[in-house]
Formats: sequence, structure tokens, C-alpha cells
Amino acid sequence: NRIDIVHGVNLDMLGRRPAAHYGDLTFDQLEQQIEGFAHELDLEPRFFQTNSEGEFVGHLHRLEGLADGVILNPGAWTHYAWAIRDALEIAAVPAVEVHLSDVEHREEFRRVSVIRDLCVATVAGQGVEGYREALAILKRHLA
Ligand code: DQA
Repeated sequence: NRIDIVHGVNLDMLGRRPAAHYGDLTFDQLEQQIEGFAHELDLEPRFFQTNSEGEFVGHLHRLEGLADGVILNPGAWTHYAWAIRDALEIAAVPAVEVHLSDVEHREEFRRVSVIRDLCVATVAGQGVEGYREALAILKRHLA
């Protein structure tokens, strides 16, 4: 199965964000780890990151037929970007939401997710390991 791993705003700056929330990996290292997890699960990963909401939405528009599932970490857009929610609905591809940090137990605004109810599952607060779980969830969902 082909799985798209889509990262949003500020995730490319991972190495410069608070390690207490996000761990100490750089973004390149994060993607490399996820690639390893995908191969262990016999999944075909493809990666995309942007800081532009328009590009993020455009990427979702193009997913149908190119990916069997999608893992999304939209960063702060998660909490308010209704256009991303609409684009995910249009994409019509099984999705799992991932957050590195424990969004339920940080600032109040991070407890809201505009995409959650469109997703098969949400994984948060497990750092890079959360992506392994998300991949396994999608694999089971697609079986
Ligand atoms: C994040 C959590 C968001 O609240 C934050 O804005 C991010 C990263 C995470 O992976 O924990 O940029 O999505």
C-alpha cells in the first residue's frame, strides 16, 4: 500500500523547536525513521512538507488515486484551518492524524482538531513512535 506522510507548517523546523515537546530529531531524521517503519510494515511511503496552507490543500486535492492512505500532521493548522478539513474530505483517502507532542495536555487551543472526526484514528504524544502506530493502524484499516 502507498502511504502519503504529509507535514504542515513549522514541522521542517523540528530541530529548532522545544525538545521537551518534539524530541531532538531533525525533520530529515524524522522522515528517515518513518521511512524505516513503513518498510518494516511493507508499506510504500511518500513524503511531503510545506509551510503554505495553499500547497497543503493542493496536495490533498491530488491524493486520490496516488495514495491508499494518508498520515497527516498539519502542525498548528490542525487547530483552526477549516480549509484543510474540507480538502481532506475532498481527498476521500483513509487518514490518520499524528502529533508528536501530547496536544491534549498542553495549551487549551491545541485540544481542538478540525480534522479529527474525518480520521480513522488520532495518535498524539508518542513522538516519532506515533508514526509507527499510525502506519500500523492504516495497514490494518486497508487490509
Ligand atoms: C504538533 C502540535 C501542534 O499543536 C503544533 O502547532 C505543531 C506540532 C505536534 O506534532 O505535536 O506544530 O502538530
